[in-house]
Amino acid sequence: MDHMLQDHITQAARLLRAGKLVAVPTETVYGLAANALDARAVEGIFRLKGRPSFNPLITHFKDVEAAFAHVEVCDLAKRLANAFWPGPLTLVMKKSADSALVPAVSANLPHVAVRVPAHPLMHALLKEVDLPLAAPSANPSECISPTSAAHVAGYFGDNPDLAMILDGGVCKTGLESTVVGLFETGPTLLRPGAVTRVCLENVLGRPLQDLSTSESAPTSPGQMLRHYAPRHARVRLNAVHVDKGEALLAFGPTPMAGTPTLNLSERGDLEEAAHNLFGMLGALDESGAHSIAVMPIPEDGIGEAINDRLRRASFSI
Ligand code: TXA
Ligand code: MG
Repeated sequence: MDHMLQDHITQAARLLRAGKLVAVPTETVYGLAANALDARAVEGIFRLKGRPSFNPLITHFKDVEAAFAHVEVCDLAKRLANAFWPGPLTLVMKKSADSALVPAVSANLPHVAVRVPAHPLMHALLKEVDLPLAAPSANPSECISPTSAAHVAGYFGDNPDLAMILDGGVCKTGLESTVVGLFETGPTLLRPGAVTRVCLENVLGRPLQDLSTSESAPTSPGQMLRHYAPRHARVRLNAVHVDKGEALLAFGPTPMAGTPTLNLSERGDLEEAAHNLFGMLGALDESGAHSIAVMPIPEDGIGEAINDRLRRASFSI
């Protein structure tokens, strides 16, 4: 790692130890990080994001061992961690009795969300600071998640409560981690994400339950219907035509054109579409169009997560 990056990591670690907030890169989206053992620092995350206190945060660890020190580990957790960590998977598990994670991190729930991220800079920071870092996506509550340092600066650059943005480039995946609840009622998909349902079910050897169909599973607070919402434009899904003055978010080859048009993936590649989704949604929102027409996206693989985010982006209050 070059000297400048090492300096930035050292500085970020120093600020985090002092209870400050630092925006951090991960392979999914940028996070707004604080020491998960410091109640005042964690409170600062909720304040800066305008996040309701009932919506729990994900805590990030340097490795599997560090994460598992805070939860009651089961066989399924070991299998999933082995297959997908470090990487874009979050596990919601029973918090262990002796865990020092502050209660606000999990919104006072008995379960906590833990993950071991793969981004090299974030991994280096977690090793250097040697603390668990609570980090939701680094956007104001309900807004589109940031996939670049500039995107974070656009939201919080002027805010003195954000001490630093650690620039790790554009996020590779571009969509948040998959959240799986390991409950007594069975493994449950709480949020589709970068690790696909099929990949998870292959490792689990059984189907995942869904939040909507699993009545007995604890709910996942904060899975708000309206989320990832553009600030100005409304979002219209499964568009097969473009209205006058409407922007177009295309997928695959298309004869249609909007004013303006961006294409998530001209070759119809869902991974590429996920990578581009939040940046393009944000850019079309800034274009001044009153509405963004979005072409249909297949539900396969990471398409399930893309469609989940788009549905929430289109939900109006
Ligand atoms: O990719 C990601 O997961 C990013 C990066 C920064 O790691 N983080 C992220 O955090 O997306 P956030 O706060 O925007 O979303 C966390 C989701 C929430 O919607 C919440 O419902 C769920 O995880 N969650 C967290 N703790 C939970 C718990 N104890 N029980 C149920 N759901 C939980
Ligand atoms: Mg978020």
